[in-house]
Amino acid sequence: MMAETTATTPGKIILFGEHSVVYGQPALAVPIQHARAEAQITNGDPNTGLIIHAEDLNLNLTLKETAEHGLCQMARLVLDALKRDEPDIVIRVRSSIPIAGGMGSGAAVSAALGKALSEHLGEPLSPDRLSALVYEVEKIYHGTPSGIDNTVICFEQPVYFIKGQAVETFGVKKPFDLVIGDTGIPSLTKETVGAVREAWQANPQRYEAVFNEMGEIVRRARSAIEAGTLDEIGGLMNQNQERLRRIKVSSPELEMLIEAALDAGAAGAKLSGGGGGGNMIAFVEPEQVDEIGEALRKAGAVRVIHTVVG
Ligand code: MEV
Repeated sequence: MMAETTATTPGKIILFGEHSVVYGQPALAVPIQHARAEAQITNGDPNTGLIIHAEDLNLNLTLKETAEHGLCQMARLVLDALKRDEPDIVIRVRSSIPIAGGMGSGAAVSAALGKALSEHLGEPLSPDRLSALVYEVEKIYHGTPSGIDNTVICFEQPVYFIKGQAVETFGVKKPFDLVIGDTGIPSLTKETVGAVREAWQANPQRYEAVFNEMGEIVRRARSAIEAGTLDEIGGLMNQNQERLRRIKVSSPELEMLIEAALDAGAAGAKLSGGGGGGNMIAFVEPEQVDEIGEALRKAGAVRVIHTVVG
């Protein structure tokens, strides 16, 4: 075993297609490189077993005593996949990805742990295998996730994702700027996904029509991003947000931030992730970044992140 191993994984942002992706429509997501999760492994004393410290969460876990915790389950899945006995190691995890913000913090921490552990044991898992294991843990927390979060985080590339299909990455012809605004209100994916499911069951035709429209917006957005016709992207975001409102996953706080971004001149803005709280994204020109960031702060954003896609 190596003496010390560190692995990191990015957070993620869904550009287009959250929620409809659960119903078989495509979605576009990109990794966020400067919001990351990290796992650092050092060898422990003999017979101490596998210990996990999650400093941000003030959590101390052991595979022997807290096996049911998601992070321990991730460690167990990796050991089983590699057919290894429990090693005597200490794993420290930390993350700069806002928790419950729709940026995949949970999936990123699981992925960083799995990546570091498999590397530490000398058998690094491929993105595909790592993603499949993180998906098992995602199911514990999120009920019926599509798998988009674990996929984009483990592949660390822009993905055009359709549930159950082989992963397709896509190219960004011209880089573009996004400003991400955080409402500070937790976005509980399990709850919003569950609420949409109930509404869909009560009114399948109406909801499926909206999901189909979202799927069409996603396909057009992919073409625009691949062709570099950036003037289309803002409008497509607004159209996607209009459908997200119809399925009732927006919130007054998200709407305040979206309105502030549009009023300050953004070409488009929408919620990103599960909704109900969490983050919104605005498509902006590079010279608008500061002004729109400031407008978001004034409208109540607790955190503003600027990122360049591509
Ligand atoms: C959450 O990041 C995205 C949702 O579409 C849920 C999922 O895809 O599992 C809301």
